[in-house]
Amino acid sequence: MTAEIIDGRKHAQTLLDSVAADIAAMPQAPGLAVVLVGGDPASAIYVRNKVRTAQTVGLRGETEILPDSVSEAELLAIIATLNARDDIDGILVQLPLPPHINTLRIMAAVDPAKDVDGLHALNAGRLLHGADALIPCTPLGCMKLITSLVPDLTGYHAVVIGASNIVGKPMAALLLDERATVTQTHIHTRDTQFICRGADILVSAVGKPGLVRGDWIKPRAIVIDVGTTRVEKAGGGHDVRGDVAFDEAVKVAGAITPVPGGVGPMTIACLMENTVKAAKARRARR
Ligand code: GUN
Repeated sequence: MTAEIIDGRKHAQTLLDSVAADIAAMPQAPGLAVVLVGGDPASAIYVRNKVRTAQTVGLRGETEILPDSVSEAELLAIIATLNARDDIDGILVQLPLPPHINTLRIMAAVDPAKDVDGLHALNAGRLLHGADALIPCTPLGCMKLITSLVPDLTGYHAVVIGASNIVGKPMAALLLDERATVTQTHIHTRDTQFICRGADILVSAVGKPGLVRGDWIKPRAIVIDVGTTRVEKAGGGHDVRGDVAFDEAVKVAGAITPVPGGVGPMTIACLMENTVKAAKARRARR
């Protein structure tokens, strides 16, 4: 038996269509500002895709591209300007930032009402409390894929591999909020493989291609692969690889996301949804 392949592009398009309809009904299109620091080619592609998708759904998307050498003070000043602009509803600072910039300080500087990445401590705290929050786009997209297959997670054992602020931690909080029993593993976990074998839902967000082997997976489990590692191709160019050994996993799992075409498109679609949510909330408070 082979697993159902979860078509992230199709789910994302459905969400984008609904976001576009929402935007069309708004008196003024929401504005999204994406800040890119440095010349990392992968980040540049992600940012271009985000701004392009913003424009296709009718958002006003703009990019602020800054050199690697930008100081933390200069970046903070740019964020302060975007915070103060009434025509900007969402601000996203693409990660990773260069080592001379303190990422936590940057995340804390974004107005929580415009924090469409859900990385400000206020949004992270509200998520943990089960209060309404702007939620990081990748785990939000993963949840939408999971609940499209299993609307009620009560009684399910979910395992999240990875404990980053941007994916692993919010992912665990979201699954817990949906009444799953959640185990989180990370780099210091002793026997991740054993823990994964008990997972009805397995989310891997590590960035190690092929980490999760077929024999790590419980038969019929839902497997969500957040990994997007760029690897050089023999003839030049790059491929993107997930954390899961797909060819092995597809023979065991009940459903699985491919890489590419799984979680990635959902991340971008959820960013658009978050931007509209932020715009509506700000306008309601005016
Ligand atoms: N880098 C990789 N993924 C993301 C994301 O979802 N948001 C930001 N800001 N940076 C990222």
